[in-house]
Amino acid sequence: MIKIITVIGARPQIIKAAAISRAINKHFSDKINEIIVHTGQHYDNNMSRVFIEELGIPEPDYKLNVGSAGHAQQTAQMIVGIEGILKETAPDYLVLYGDTNSTLAGAIAASKIHIPIVHIEAGLRSFNKTMPEEINRIMCDHASTLLFTPTATGLKNLINEGFNPHNKFPFSADNPGVFHCGDIMYDNSLHFKPISLKSSKVIDDYKLEKDNFILCTIHRDNNTDNPVRLNAIFHSLNKIANAENITIIIPLHPRTSKLLNTNLNSELLSTIVSNPLIKLLPPVSFLDMISLESNCKLVMTDSGGVQKEAYFFYKPCIILRSETEWVEIVEEGAAIIANADEDKIQDAYNKLKNLNMRTFPLLFGDGKAAEFICKTMLHL
Ligand code: UD1
Ligand code: UDP
Repeated sequence: MIKIITVIGARPQIIKAAAISRAINKHFSDKINEIIVHTGQHYDNNMSRVFIEELGIPEPDYKLNVGSAGHAQQTAQMIVGIEGILKETAPDYLVLYGDTNSTLAGAIAASKIHIPIVHIEAGLRSFNKTMPEEINRIMCDHASTLLFTPTATGLKNLINEGFNPHNKFPFSADNPGVFHCGDIMYDNSLHFKPISLKSSKVIDDYKLEKDNFILCTIHRDNNTDNPVRLNAIFHSLNKIANAENITIIIPLHPRTSKLLNTNLNSELLSTIVSNPLIKLLPPVSFLDMISLESNCKLVMTDSGGVQKEAYFFYKPCIILRSETEWVEIVEEGAAIIANADEDKIQDAYNKLKNLNMRTFPLLFGDGKAAEFICKTMLHL
């Protein structure tokens, strides 16, 4: 029996953790004892609890309740909390997801006291170090013992940074194991899609017409905190909704809802709020999100996870960023990087609005990434 500590904190990590917890529960419950630490980075019910309940994630064993703060304070408080738990529990591995401050805190805490780190979603790069996530993921990768990358590009990025995919067991931070295993979020999409189809009522609740609405999410700090970019994005949304007579549904991240009032031009804000074609909603549950993603016409987003899920559910995607870590979907022609540029967003919409994606290749594994990760941790 091995003991692992899993760190969750931000919304996408909580959702990702469901895949590993499910694999442990189904195949390895006699071999892996998972202890879950929730840093409290996200804490609203619709950013945290809803996922724990809906996705069958075990109740966290430890809650650090760190909450929102500047990068240094938030990360530092998490490091202190995680170090204490690692010392108390002495796990075989610390499992970290993605690229948030919770990921970085876990990497710093564990590496200094020599607890081997497992990084799930390793190797992704935007090559834009002004993103806090880029710093977090690079630091985490370089402190890790087992790196699981979801894509061929992720593997290439790691090799370019000096990682050797031919390293052999026993692995350590100085001899890390690097594995291209597919995406645990693809595992989750396959598992939760039928459940969402049966249980989600979101399409009816918001009176949406299947294949005739746009799903949009915006939360990246360089969009929400930059009035020029935020105004350009919302101006484009308003224009497309009116010109195409199409509903745009926007489950708003709390960061974005708070900043709309300060960073959006007041005239544009009232136009958006009074436009019946634009629906601003609170964050939705994952099962509702899957339903929105699989029933919409097109996705517009600056989220990493939502870009991929658009691809999983055969929907074209306009990326509201200047670059992406998920370059494969752009190379396939399923997504276009439009930044926060009104002309590029409009052009991308015109190009993608009638795209049929049913024949696009599978890029994110076979739906068994979580099982592979568990087996590798067990050295099976
Ligand atoms: C974080 C991650 C980002 C990830 C995103 C997923 C970092 C540096 N960023 O960004 O990579 O894509 O999570 O959603 O780790 N807030 C609430 N309620 C909550 C959580 C947040 O109101 O439950 C508000 C607070 O005003 C907070 C702001 O959102 O200051 C930002 O939250 P934070 O966790 O710092 O960063 P995110 O933008 O969510
Ligand atoms: N998500 C959700 N409800 C929402 C918005 C997003 O369940 O209202 C899910 C989405 O399906 C994806 C994950 O949250 O699985 C992505 O998280 P987010 O966009 O917050 O962060 P990122 O992936 O950019 O780090």
